[in-house]
Amino acid sequence: MTAGGRRVGIAVLGLGWMGQAHSRSALRLPSLFPDHAYAPELVVCADTDPGRRERAVRDFGFARATADWQEAVAADDVDAVWVTAPNMLHVPMIEAACAAGKAVFSEKPIGGKPEHAVAAYRAALAAGVPSGVGYNYLWAPLVLHARAMVAQGRLGRITHYRGRFLSMYGSDELGLLTWRFKLAEAGYGVTSDILSHSVSMARFLLGDEISELVGMRETTIPRRPLPTGAASHYGRGRPEDPHGDVENEDFASMLCRFAGGATGTFECSRTMVGPESQNAFEIYGTEGSLAWNLERVNELQYYRRGPEDETGWTTVFGGDRFPYHGAFVPGQANAIGFEDLVAIEDHAFLQSLVTGESFSPSFGDAVDVVAVQQALVDSWSSRTWESVPALRAQADGAHAAATTAQED
Ligand SMILES: NC(=O)c1ccc[n+]([C@@H]2O[C@H](COP(=O)([O-])OP(=O)(O)OC[C@H]3O[C@@H](n4cnc5c(N)ncnc54)[C@H](O)[C@@H]3O)[C@@H](O)[C@H]2O)c1
Repeated sequence: MTAGGRRVGIAVLGLGWMGQAHSRSALRLPSLFPDHAYAPELVVCADTDPGRRERAVRDFGFARATADWQEAVAADDVDAVWVTAPNMLHVPMIEAACAAGKAVFSEKPIGGKPEHAVAAYRAALAAGVPSGVGYNYLWAPLVLHARAMVAQGRLGRITHYRGRFLSMYGSDELGLLTWRFKLAEAGYGVTSDILSHSVSMARFLLGDEISELVGMRETTIPRRPLPTGAASHYGRGRPEDPHGDVENEDFASMLCRFAGGATGTFECSRTMVGPESQNAFEIYGTEGSLAWNLERVNELQYYRRGPEDETGWTTVFGGDRFPYHGAFVPGQANAIGFEDLVAIEDHAFLQSLVTGESFSPSFGDAVDVVAVQQALVDSWSSRTWESVPALRAQADGAHAAATTAQED
């Protein structure tokens, strides 16, 4: 599929949930975005599961599939690599792709601990290749609109931000002990998996950084049934199956201050019963407020201070008057969904590769997100307020020093 635009040969590493979502994007992007300057070509998919390799070629039209991701990354006909494997494979895959001079789009959280995102950022800096990270919810048309409203000052001065991602994916005590629950494969638990979405959202919406915080964590379901064979994210075992230990946190929360003066609270959980996928924010300003929740992705709530008899919450439905929405469906209140957000981010990343414009969120943004995670982890042990470390500035300094040393 190379009609129109500059050919971009794509490798996808891992054809699970997100590998399939990004592969489907590549197939439908040219028809969704007629202004596309790129022509995506699904060149090679790497997965250790033979059934998924077969699907990659049969259903997605990849030219070939391999069990060896290193072979996929090194291939001459690959220009850009999508990293969609479990967390702990992100950094080796990213480092290899950068060393081979390929552009890299990685799913969040980039590894499972703060140092992993820093390593990925440094690899991209050293190789001078473009990078992108899959904070897909930032691309929801109503989130983009909310960001513009904040930037235009329509809420006045921002006083408080409330972020939460409460998901039920781990709420079943018989939910399988998949890679997400293990330190060696996922790193930290919900703080890597979904707090990363909430923190990236807050930075994006406010254009401000969290400067200090205090937080807590809990593991609410300490043991789970062991999977047999390839286990799905939502797979279920039986009470009589052998069980193993959950090795990372199910719940985390934090109170924080932003550099610009606003206060903030964040909560994330994978085990609460009730909130099915509550990736949500509330932004409070001196003149108004906004609220959004992924469970109602096509609705933005807006409260505007006005004459007393006109003041109150208004529901704004999604529609083609907001960024990107019209690529999927025309008119007002015709809904878009999860994979549409993935398509928007993939379009923006591919477009940036061809136009040469810088892309955000990049690995640098991921480092700013994990700097918050680092302070949270520090706070778990110190049980006090912690400052958010300047991880991106430190990495930039190390890169500059290494470049100078090479030149000397
Ligand atoms: N942005 C989002 O909304 C979102 C949603 C889900 C997952 N994710 C992220 O995407 C990544 C993948 O998650 P998922 O839910 O798609 O996982 P998944 O378990 O559904 O898929 C992972 C795939 O990687 C394959 N794999 C494992 N080891 C491999 C290896 N050595 N080489 C090649 N392939 C290998 C597996 O066989 C599987 O097909 C994670 O980092 C996760 O945090 C992001």
